[in-house]
Amino acid sequence: MNGAKEFRLGILGSGKGSNFVAIADAIGAGRLPARVALVLSDVEDAGILREARARGLPARFIPPGRFRTKLDEEAERAYVAALQEAGVDCVALAGFMRILKGEFLRAFEGRIVNIHPSLLPAFPGLEAWRQALEHGVKITGCTVHFVDAGVDSGPIIAQCAVPVYDDDTPETLHARIQVAEHELYPQCLAALARGEISLRGRTVLWRRTATACCANAARS
Ligand code: GAR
Repeated sequence: MNGAKEFRLGILGSGKGSNFVAIADAIGAGRLPARVALVLSDVEDAGILREARARGLPARFIPPGRFRTKLDEEAERAYVAALQEAGVDCVALAGFMRILKGEFLRAFEGRIVNIHPSLLPAFPGLEAWRQALEHGVKITGCTVHFVDAGVDSGPIIAQCAVPVYDDDTPETLHARIQVAEHELYPQCLAALARGEISLRGRTVLWRRTATACCANAARS
């Protein structure tokens, strides 16, 4: 992952695609030196596919197969083949609601990243904003991390804190976290694209002293 050659992103999502939009906008604005080589979804009518197609970007639905929480073997092979054909350097999960396993992880080892709507390791898994609210924490946030074989357990690239207010609903809290996500994720991908990030054990090292942060999130 370095700035000399084009940095090709494969983006996987299952939902509305607001993180994809933030990434595409950052590329358009020259803040992220990358190209979206392919967008894939396990949901045929996902917003992320509509958003990608509206921007003239290659976008495909690939059926996930017979399982609910992961890709079956045939689907896994199809996802890997499509991403390899597109020549992606990095796979960015943007609301992809299935756990990646075996062959997929091996094919893109150390090159898969995810955005999660909590300050990991707190609240891994589904609807992390609801978990945070139910637990009664006063601060939550979002985390960009490398993907490993566990659930939201890989090395942490960057995090952004977001306050929880007494009158928050799951929807208002998730919306506030998403403002932070939209700032943090493109910053992290830009650092990866520029080759500014390395790994020592589980610790992610940034070449620059200033790590990504999103000052605006706390104000929204
Ligand atoms: C985001 O909040 C992302 O953090 C979350 O899904 C949402 C997708 O929104 N991902 C997870 O919960 C993964 N465990 P988007 O489709 O608008 O980008």
